[in-house]
Amino acid sequence: MPDQVNPAIEIRPAGPDQADNAARLMHSTHPVLYDDLYSANLAIETAACTAIWESDDALESHQVAYGAYVDDRLIGFEIGGDINVLRAREHFDDGIIKSVLTAEAFAHYEEAWRGRWSYAFPRFPEGTYYVGCLAVLPDWHGHGVGRLLLQNAFDRAKAIGCRDAQLDLYASNPAFHFYLAMGMEKLSETTVETLRDTDTPTHYRMIKRF
Ligand SMILES: CC(C)(COP(=O)(O)OP(=O)(O)OC[C@H]1O[C@@H](n2cnc3c(N)ncnc32)[C@H](O)[C@@H]1OP(=O)(O)O)[C@@H](O)C(=O)NCCC(=O)NCCS
Repeated sequence: MPDQVNPAIEIRPAGPDQADNAARLMHSTHPVLYDDLYSANLAIETAACTAIWESDDALESHQVAYGAYVDDRLIGFEIGGDINVLRAREHFDDGIIKSVLTAEAFAHYEEAWRGRWSYAFPRFPEGTYYVGCLAVLPDWHGHGVGRLLLQNAFDRAKAIGCRDAQLDLYASNPAFHFYLAMGMEKLSETTVETLRDTDTPTHYRMIKRF
């Protein structure tokens, strides 16, 4: 842990503003996935991620996010919650994304998500808090912001009675070492058949038991 956490960093429920930063943060968590969903077209991706962030109902809405703010600027976030709460949001995403993409871009998104990526949001046992996204803007890496965000998620998970917190990441993501430093352990390692012919690495499921 850094000797001193910058006192200017405030962790609080996120607001719907600063969708540009939210979109950058989303992309940084799974670049291969976002590039595939939106054909590596930044304008399309930003439109979709902005709509998702600003919506009250989506899976990756600001409503289920805590932000790290410095002088009211969003520098990091954690999006997550009790798995049943997140599940109830899942079906809103298609409609929200469809409303901002062209028919062609939406058809590609649907085909990519259902055909290749739905494993990224699998079934979980009752009592799991799922960390869907955790990211800090690159300029702020290594300043204890990720630790504050994840500890806040663990504290909230315990407060609502969850048994554990779980998340997914690529085996090659250096964030693996961050999660180990946060007391998480590897629960499983998966190679997805539909992604075997791509450059996609295996993925890890991580768990923190309370
Ligand atoms: C992962 C991420 C959120 C970490 O945030 P951060 O603010 O840089 O991390 P912190 O400064 O709070 O570090 C907390 C601890 O993790 C360790 N750590 C952080 N990044 C690390 C890395 N790449 N390798 C090894 N250890 C790391 C720190 O040394 C620190 O350990 P310590 O407290 O024992 O000294 C950040 O690197 C990030 O946004 N990455 C891109 C998005 C991403 O991949 N998200 C995860 C996929 S869902």
